[in-house]
Amino acid sequence: MNTLNNKSIVIIGGSSGIGGQVAELAAAEGANLTIVGRNENRLESAKKTLKAVGAKAETFQCDAHDHQQLEILFRQLKPFDHLVSMVGDVMGGGFLGSDLSEIRRVLESKFFTNVRIGQLAAEKLNDQGSLVFTSGTGGRAQDASGSYVGNLGINALVEGLAVELAPKARVNAVSPTWTLTPFWRDVPTIQVEHIQSHFKQKIPLKRLAQIEELAMTYIFLMKNGFVTGQHIAVDGGIMLGS
Ligand SMILES: NC(=O)c1ccc[n+]([C@@H]2O[C@H](COP(=O)([O-])OP(=O)(O)OC[C@H]3O[C@@H](n4cnc5c(N)ncnc54)[C@H](OP(=O)(O)O)[C@@H]3O)[C@@H](O)[C@H]2O)c1
Repeated sequence: MNTLNNKSIVIIGGSSGIGGQVAELAAAEGANLTIVGRNENRLESAKKTLKAVGAKAETFQCDAHDHQQLEILFRQLKPFDHLVSMVGDVMGGGFLGSDLSEIRRVLESKFFTNVRIGQLAAEKLNDQGSLVFTSGTGGRAQDASGSYVGNLGINALVEGLAVELAPKARVNAVSPTWTLTPFWRDVPTIQVEHIQSHFKQKIPLKRLAQIEELAMTYIFLMKNGFVTGQHIAVDGGIMLGS
């Protein structure tokens, strides 16, 4: 396995949730981190946490959905070894009941923004580096239309980029299913509790993921130099049921 010691890792979305935990695990292995996000307070707090454990960490404020901001960000970044993208909005609802604008918003976020991240990252990626995107599982086309198509898009992006970037670099994705993270901070508590019990029932392993179980998969994909073009579902087997 490759080591992350002294490797430079950019995490777009490393200031909270799964990406925050990836940053902490990578810091524990001696990586130098660049954390990107929109909210300044969350960035500051992530930097403090990482510095407290002796990690080298810098932050950039950027809304990845704004592709001009994304281009400015990448112009400022020094070449790096690995990039993790946590960017991807979600939606519920099928094709018939959802506004086209909502489906388009989620596809812009999950698919086109990550395509642009892949294009820009390819120019700054060191030899033997990797990109790790975030897809998702659990929803179906009929109840999570935009998210479902967006996830298929990310999985296709990973396969295409893996071939285009080989043998210089590798490209993979992690697919979580519904997980209790700050992602749901704006959803009323009662609704979050309802969704939690729904997923605990639906997931064959009858529980939710711990954030660390997801984060360690990103670390594995950065370190294992012979895995490329894969999307690894860390979802308790949710897609295996009816
Ligand atoms: N949690 C779940 O149930 C679940 C399930 C399946 C898939 N996922 C996927 O997992 C990913 C991360 O989720 P999470 O649960 O860790 O959420 P989270 O705790 O909200 O973390 C998301 C991170 O990404 C950053 N971010 C989001 N949009 C951004 C943008 N446009 N530009 C720059 N930074 C952005 C956030 O920072 P700012 O908000 O400050 O920008 C934050 O650091 C998402 O792609 C989500 O779709 C999550």
